[in-house]
Amino acid sequence: MNHVTNDIVYVGVNDHKIDLFESQYSVPCGMAYNSYVILDEKIAVMDTAESHFVEEWLSNLKEALGDKKPSYLIVQHMEPDHSAGIMRFAEEYPEATVVGNAKTFAMMGQFFNRLPAHTLTVKEGETLNLGKHILTFVFAPMVHWPEVMVTYDATDKVLFSADGFGKFGALDTDEAWTDEARRYYIGIVGKYGVQVQSLLKKASALDIAAICPLHGPVLKDRLPFYINLYHTWSSYLPEKKGVLIAYTSVYGHTKAAAEELANMLRQKGADVVLTDLARGDMSKAVAEAFCYDRIVLATTTYNASVFPPMNAFLTHLAERNFQNRTVGIIENGTWAPAAAKVIKERLAAAKNLNFLEPVVTIKSALTEQNREQLQALAEALVAQD
Ligand code: FEO
Repeated sequence: MNHVTNDIVYVGVNDHKIDLFESQYSVPCGMAYNSYVILDEKIAVMDTAESHFVEEWLSNLKEALGDKKPSYLIVQHMEPDHSAGIMRFAEEYPEATVVGNAKTFAMMGQFFNRLPAHTLTVKEGETLNLGKHILTFVFAPMVHWPEVMVTYDATDKVLFSADGFGKFGALDTDEAWTDEARRYYIGIVGKYGVQVQSLLKKASALDIAAICPLHGPVLKDRLPFYINLYHTWSSYLPEKKGVLIAYTSVYGHTKAAAEELANMLRQKGADVVLTDLARGDMSKAVAEAFCYDRIVLATTTYNASVFPPMNAFLTHLAERNFQNRTVGIIENGTWAPAAAKVIKERLAAAKNLNFLEPVVTIKSALTEQNREQLQALAEALVAQD
């Protein structure tokens, strides 16, 4: 058995069949749907699993339980990647009580058109005594849905953190935490920085030895490192110094400008990441935009707007409250370049963006004058370091 502590056992599953998590995020290393059992006088199960893995999860649960029966299923989050097994659990363990808050049960009714026979509705700060372990429910609305609550076990000093501190990737793969946790956080929870800050404030009052998220590994070592990253991400501050050049290019001229700018910046010692928004992973590009302190948006004018992948990228940034960054712009247009104007309009609501001059305007292909402008933009970007 996979023990987190003496009394807490991991009973989650790995998903290597999934193509796109939440039907949009590529997960080359799969996905984990975590679930845990707290073995005590009364036994509590923390969340279930995604629909394709409910039987595997139940099998893991039975192995951890032996001949015992659970008293409680605690539902921290109703998104189906964690809640699909609730009614199956209730069928298997009809005497058990399903624990959630008022919003949990409203959603449960919506998803299943019925509720388990035994339910317990808890309020913020309420406790559940299992015998040795006393669980406290801490509400975390919008991290990532309104009904989310996290659970603190004061006995083992474990925080069950729901989606918080999760990452993409199954647990039987060897993958570094930060990049995939960042892509997961920015993509899925990035819009809700204020709510994450509120949860971090509540968590700061707790003595935490381990974090048990619903995705990704249990975190035991380097907890200040993970918590500091969450502080950075949720306050929309840059994590690293560097320039992300995000471009779209139809026939290669805008790409050539982006690459020339990248070379100029590298010659000046800057860290540069170059991404083709039409061909690269969009969620990775969005996460990198939030990671670095400077960004250059380089795009073709298209239908009097910006090229569609840039349009999608700008939507992702704006929806996630992109802010506190320095922005350079390269636009291209053969007869009526308008991309710079559209980019500024699309980011008009973003707070504290520092738009640099010059905006580089290419009419079809790069000219020597454009190269001078690129050099000036590179100098302006490096001056922000
Ligand atoms: Fe992993 Fe918001 O569910």
